[in-house]
This record gives sequence, structure tokens and C-alpha cells, in this order.
Amino acid sequence: MTNKTVLVTGGAGYIGSHACVELLESGFNVVVVDNLCNSKIESLSRVQQITGKPLTFYQVDISDKAALTEIFAKESICAVMHFAGLKAVGESCEKPALYYHNNVCGTLILAEVMAAANVKQLVFSSSATVYGQSGSPQYSENFPLGAINPYGRSKVMIEDILRDLSTADSINRTKSPWKIALLRYFNPIGAHQSGLIGEDPNGIPNNLMPYVSQVAIGKLVQLSVFGDDYPTPDGTGVRDYIHVVDLVKGHIKAIAALEKPTFAQGGCKAYNLGTGQGYSVLEIIHTFEKITGHRINYKIAPRRTGDLAECFANPELALQELGWKAEKNLDDMVSDTWNWQTKNPQGYL
Ligand code: NAD
Ligand code: UD1
Repeated sequence: MTNKTVLVTGGAGYIGSHACVELLESGFNVVVVDNLCNSKIESLSRVQQITGKPLTFYQVDISDKAALTEIFAKESICAVMHFAGLKAVGESCEKPALYYHNNVCGTLILAEVMAAANVKQLVFSSSATVYGQSGSPQYSENFPLGAINPYGRSKVMIEDILRDLSTADSINRTKSPWKIALLRYFNPIGAHQSGLIGEDPNGIPNNLMPYVSQVAIGKLVQLSVFGDDYPTPDGTGVRDYIHVVDLVKGHIKAIAALEKPTFAQGGCKAYNLGTGQGYSVLEIIHTFEKITGHRINYKIAPRRTGDLAECFANPELALQELGWKAEKNLDDMVSDTWNWQTKNPQGYL
């Protein structure tokens, strides 16, 4: 067990709150910075309820350099897990400047404050959306990057900035170099098994799982299946869904790896966090019906612009270098989503 302190930006959000649980349960102290633009403080009360451990919360925007600097001066932070960011693809197309400002400028300010405080261990929430067109549906970390919307491009830009910071360390022969893990998530779903924390989307969800879940509970009337004519076994889109608890366990492994030989000379490395297994939209619907006993009302609709037919991870590098592998299956993901949904039909309130 450890008593090191990790700063979690965006810790009140969906993935960040699960990471706080995992960090506290692994013996870390947790300091959360979140401006609550897409979350509620109740999630952090629930984190403390689950773990029986306290955490420190600052309602601060990551682009507030003075406030961040004060936090680094006050708390003995050894590493940062950086989840804070805006994540809605559609909104990013309507408001690109907001996304570049919040995600890219915010990360740059965070990195500057970290460097000034000599805290140079960082685990960053990237996304499979950074990958460009490829000949294969199974993505490896060395595939070319090429996001197709402002949200995705903000992640590519952040990855580029972080890689450049790390490269500069080797040019300048810095004594304490950056150690950065870029974690490229595939499709995080599910919830903590307590049903106390989970995904609480604002308004009508864009992503498949929260949408299906709200149809099942009767909040939404009908799911549109975006396309049934893709070159996939049943014609619907295939994705690599990963349980959020598996995902955050990957972050704990990444924090540990930053202290190990792989990062001994510093560096900035990308890792896919996915299961390596794809499921279609219809498979998700049928699993949901099986687990919940509710029929999912759906119709086939036209393809959604920008969607790929099929996308799943090659998760080998995370296994080799982080010692991490997803363990939960689709039934676990669906039953935990449903447990959260039924216990919190209106989200956190
Ligand atoms: P979320 O919206 O639930 O959590 C993000 C948190 O960051 C929220 O609590 C929000 O209030 C906070 N935040 C946003 N901008 C901030 C700022 N400027 N200063 C301080 N706090 C700020 O999203 P999530 O699903 O938990 O995603 C976490 C991270 O993972 C994001 O960076 C997202 O882009 C990335 N990611 C998510 C997914 C996914 O499917 N959920 C997939 C790939 C990558
Ligand atoms: C989307 C984002 C991606 C982001 C990811 C996780 C787009 C184009 N991509 O990916 O940038 O990283 O979420 O947040 O928005 N589907 C339906 N009906 C629905 C919703 C989805 O059929 O109402 C289908 C989609 O066509 C897709 C699958 O379900 O085949 C998964 O969709 P979704 O959950 O939105 O994830 P991605 O498209 O993989």
C-alpha cells in the first residue's frame, strides 16, 4: 500500500469518479480538481461512501493557472491523472473554439504548472478517436493518427504537445524527465458494482449504451440503430466496449509503470485500453434484453456521419508493458449499467 497523493482532474466525472475509487482502494490519497461543468459534486460523496475514505476537492478550472499553482504548492502531489475535458463530438463541431480552448489550452496550462512544481508523471485520457483511416479494424498504437472532428483533433493535439514536452527533456538532458502514459480508450461503459456511481449524461445521450439504458427504463421511447448495411456480420456497427472499472484499473497500472524500467529514462507512450473484442449494436441490444428482461424498442435509421463500420483494440502493448488486461465481459458491463440506471433513474439529482 502507498500513501502517495494523486491529483485527479475531472475526478467528479464518469471515468474520473471510478478512478478516484480505485486510487483510494489502492492506498493513494486523492485530490480532485473539477469545475463541475459536466458533473455533480454528489459523485464525490458517493466515492467516499463506497471507499469509506476521504478525498480533497477543489472546484477549479484547469485553465486557472493561479489556482492550480496554489493547489500544487499546498498538496504533496506525485502524479496527475488528467480526465478533465469536454467530450461531445457533435458539440465540438458546433463550438470548436470552446473544445480547443478547454481541452488543449487547459492541458497546456496544467502541464506548465506541473513542470513548475516538478511533478512530471502524467496519465492522460486519450481516445481511440485519434486513429485515422486504416486498412484494419483492429487498431495498434503505431497506426497513423488522423481524427475527423474537433473533439478528436483536440486529443491528437494534446498527444502531440505531450510528446514534444517529453522529447524536449531528452534534448535538454533534464534530470527529472516527463513520464507520460497516453491511454487511448475504446468505448467505456458500465458502472461501479455498488450502483452508487455511473454515467450521468446531460440531456439526451449521444452514445449507444446510455441511450439503450434509458430506452429500457422508459425515459426514451425508441433507439435508432445507425445503419444496418455495414460490412459486419449483422450489418450494424462493431465497437470494443470496455467496463469502466477495468479501464480505471488500467490507470492504476499505468501510474505504477511510470516508476518502472519502461519509463526509467522518461518518455511519452501511448497504450490502447480495450478488450480486443468487438460487439455489434444488435448484440448490445440483445444482451441488454437478456439481462434486464425488458424489450428494447428500436428502429433501423440511416448511418451516422463519421461512424466507422468496425473498430476494436489491439490491447497487447498494455498487457506487455503495463501488465493490464480487461477482465469483465459484456454481461458484466450491461448488468452494472442496469444496476446503476435502476438505482439512479434521474442520475445524481
Ligand atoms: P465526463 O464529462 O463525465 O468527465 C469530465 C470531467 O471533467 C467532468 O466532471 C467535467 O466537469 C470536468 N471538466 C471539463 N472541463 C474542465 C475544466 N476545464 N476544468 C476542470 N474540470 C473540467 O467525461 P468522462 O466520460 O469521464 O471522460 C473523461 C475523459 O476521458 C475525457 O477527457 C474524455 O475526453 C476522455 N474519454 C472519454 C470517453 C468516453 O466514452 N467516456 C472515451 C474516450 C476518452
Ligand atoms: C463515439 C464518438 C467518439 C468517442 C466515443 C466515446 C462519434 C462519431 N464518435 O464513438 O469520438 O470517443 O463515442 O465517447 O460520435 N449507435 C446507434 N444508435 C445510437 C448511438 C450509437 O446505433 O443512438 C451506434 C453507432 O453507430 C456505433 C455504436 O452504436 O456503431 C457505438 O456508438 P457510440 O456509443 O456513439 O460510440 P462511437 O461511435 O464508437
